[in-house]
Amino acid sequence: MYLWLKWLHVVSVISWMAGILYLYRLLIYLSERGANADIKGLLVLMSRRLFKYITVPAAVVSYVAGLGMVAVVPAIAKGHWFGAKFILVLALTHYTVKAGLLIGRFEKGADNLPSSKRLRVLNEVPTVLMLVIVWLVLFKPF
Ligand code: HEM
Repeated sequence: MYLWLKWLHVVSVISWMAGILYLYRLLIYLSERGANADIKGLLVLMSRRLFKYITVPAAVVSYVAGLGMVAVVPAIAKGHWFGAKFILVLALTHYTVKAGLLIGRFEKGADNLPSSKRLRVLNEVPTVLMLVIVWLVLFKPF
């Protein structure tokens, strides 16, 4: 049971990361090419579908399978690495929700939209979070 949950966890985490990394890239394209209505329409559609059908379900399954492993073997969540990982996972969740909200703001042409330069910086945050999360879970340094 534990290994099946870990399998589900790793597969869903891969999908979540693929979704969030590509979403910020699509937002960069929206910011740079969104002045053209046809391009904007296509990019908004692609972003919405990626968010709704891949990124959010994958994040939910990652939580369910991750917490499921803790329910099956509570001892694995004992170290401080787990608390540290969980805080970073919450940060990743925040950036996922933020990307979802940004799609709607770009669609409406809201005020104060982030520049493509700022989106490029935001795009690096999930990457750094992923590097540290995977390091924590494998090395369990504390
Ligand atoms: C969503 C909330 C999450 C929870 C509750 C959670 C919890 C867990 C737990 C309990 C394990 C088993 C640890 C072990 O067997 O030593 C695990 C494994 C793992 N987690 Fe997560 N995790 C979450 C999110 C993530 C995220 C976002 C990533 C990557 C970005 C990630 C990457 C991994 C990897 C690669 C493993 C496998 C490690 C191994 O096989 O030794 N997890 N997770």
